[in-house]
Amino acid sequence: MQQEVTDPRVIDGKKLAQDIEAKVKKGVAQLEKERGVKPGLATILVGEHPPSKLYVKLKHWASKRVGIYSEDHKLPETEVQEEIINLIEILNKRPEIHGILVQLPMPGHIDERTVMMHIAPQKDVDGFNPLNMGRMFIGSEGFVPCTPEGIVRALEHYDIDPRGKDVVVVGHSNVVGKPAAMMLLNRNATVSVCHVFTKDLKSHTARADILIVATGVRGLIKADMVKEEAIVFDVGITWMDGKVYGDVELEDVLPKVKLVSPVPGGVGPMTIAILMEHTLSAARMQSLDS
Ligand code: GUN
Repeated sequence: MQQEVTDPRVIDGKKLAQDIEAKVKKGVAQLEKERGVKPGLATILVGEHPPSKLYVKLKHWASKRVGIYSEDHKLPETEVQEEIINLIEILNKRPEIHGILVQLPMPGHIDERTVMMHIAPQKDVDGFNPLNMGRMFIGSEGFVPCTPEGIVRALEHYDIDPRGKDVVVVGHSNVVGKPAAMMLLNRNATVSVCHVFTKDLKSHTARADILIVATGVRGLIKADMVKEEAIVFDVGITWMDGKVYGDVELEDVLPKVKLVSPVPGGVGPMTIAILMEHTLSAARMQSLDS
């Protein structure tokens, strides 16, 4: 059964996202009033991956809620890489588009890294262009990936300073694990990154003050793998029979933890709200440049 968010130890990501969206909505109205600029977001979805279709739809709904113009570019599963890059180059040049998001994963014949390199860094609201990734690496964060930023923002909301804390990240994807590790390292946490080849996962997770799990392995983390009073971010997603499940056995770990971000209703809604925030920032910056 999916958990209702009522326990104070369960992070209410929807509420945090609503607060962010309310600020973005005001910022969008102000930018329009002061500079006559309406922020614009273009999404590119290649193929028919059902969860990706849903995530993109949610991004357009959020855009509508906060007053951001958005357009949805759907390309067939068989689209060649050059055509995707051509579309990105066109969007890079269009002044009314301030943010470009290419939904991941893309079909296997596409090299995601090459595609991401073509998004203009100032329009890279997802933070996946290597320039933005590199800036994050040297501690000069500009646009960073939205999901790890959601984790950082949730920690800030609860006044939790990562400095000196033992952070364990499980999963080393470019979308969540690696940038989350880097962003917490930038905040002076002691960070370990575990992945599918890690020997004895539990020996790492059980000493984490902050545990971030993003593997997509349903129920991977159980109570005996979590330290007392840990802060746990479940970022994994598994779709099964039309329902979504996380990587953490929520009911099992709840009695032990200080805070836990659930699936659904945790970092997910924040990811989208932060994307809206990034699109507004991109529009603000580009309106000053022109
Ligand atoms: N796929 C899963 N999460 C994300 C995300 O944050 N951005 C993009 N572009 N694709 C994703």
